[in-house]
Amino acid sequence: MSGQHAEAPGEHGGAGLERGRVDLQRYEHSLMGTYGQPMRVLARGEGSWVWDADGNRYLDLLGGIAVNALGHAHPAWVAAIAHQAATLSHTSNFFATEPQIRLAERLLELAQAPPGSRVFFANSGTEANEAAFKMARKTGKRTVIALDEGFHGRSMGALSMTGKESIRAPFTPLLERVVFVPRDDTDALHAAVTEAGEDLAAVIVEPIQGESGVRPLAHAFLAAARELTLQHEALLIMDEVQTGVARTGAWFAHQLHGIRPDVMTLAKGLGGGFPIGAVVAFGERAGALLAKGDHGTTFGGNPLAAAAALATLDVIEEEGLLAHAKALGEHLRTALGAIDGVVEVRGEGLMLGIGLSAAVSADVARAAVEAGFIVNPPSPDTIRLVPALTLTRPEADLFVAWMADHGSRIVREAS
Ligand SMILES: Cc1ncc(COP(=O)(O)O)c(C=O)c1O
Repeated sequence: MSGQHAEAPGEHGGAGLERGRVDLQRYEHSLMGTYGQPMRVLARGEGSWVWDADGNRYLDLLGGIAVNALGHAHPAWVAAIAHQAATLSHTSNFFATEPQIRLAERLLELAQAPPGSRVFFANSGTEANEAAFKMARKTGKRTVIALDEGFHGRSMGALSMTGKESIRAPFTPLLERVVFVPRDDTDALHAAVTEAGEDLAAVIVEPIQGESGVRPLAHAFLAAARELTLQHEALLIMDEVQTGVARTGAWFAHQLHGIRPDVMTLAKGLGGGFPIGAVVAFGERAGALLAKGDHGTTFGGNPLAAAAALATLDVIEEEGLLAHAKALGEHLRTALGAIDGVVEVRGEGLMLGIGLSAAVSADVARAAVEAGFIVNPPSPDTIRLVPALTLTRPEADLFVAWMADHGSRIVREAS
């Protein structure tokens, strides 16, 4: 397993940030302000550690937002990309390549997909969800049910299914006939399905809502969504962009529930840091929805991205990272849950939301970065951990110790 350094990260107060400060000014003058002020300028990474432009070291517990499944610069991943780049990096989809075919076969196998199942490759989670939305429309029906607080991306189709008013509002009108229901509200789901009637094309859910604060859906709600979509011959779309590819200790989070969707979207961890997205359509009907001319993308599934993804899946298997994610997640859940000011730890495997007793997650995250730990606050009272699946227990315990001391103090002072 990579990332074996376990000495304490440094305290990074005001000193030692000169180069980064200059670079951030250059950033501000050359990039759009879509992300606000970045926290640091990062220069390199190894395992679960990254270094900023001034040489300060941080333990990366955000993993590029659940992307760097193998940590930074895993040798097998680097070698696979280098080899593929030197062999054949891009062809267009007028041609097929061995890595692309192998990756599709591998995903179907890991998802235990039945005969007739098919994969479409995209370049991001947003694009995977756009394709899924088009599949819903190709059923010939139009109504899509999505969840309040759900996040599926920011292109117009994906945004139309995203239940966050603040990011939708500037771009209305969005696509018609997307109906939102509250998470885990089975009655509201029933009512929306009844209202849609024969027009119900799809229900889209994240098995664990990531961007709204790591909120797992109740099994009963997922089971109801499965049953209702089957009854109405509608698609159950599971957005596993964040939960997929071993993040939760299973290859895909729906496997933890024993509930198979008709369509699953993937991205983030799939490429281990190389951009790639995928749509897995289960069974003959879903597998055939998008036909020749219905969809496409220049880069989708190019051999370089496919080689990076295959290397990621290989390492996850070879290093036993499914079991490791599960065990380390359980350890973190217990250790963090015992800290004063932590009211609950939500999630599965290495997708964890630390629920705080006060709405100070932004302060805690800022202090953590100053102390050399990269975490993020997806909601006012939640700290999210989505680290590399290769994170070691001693590394994880460095953050537990900081949280028990400094993090806890910030929460308690605000409570
Ligand atoms: C569940 C989910 N779906 C879709 C997306 C969008 O993916 P991307 O940023 O790769 O376009 C995200 C990103 O955070 C996500 O968490």
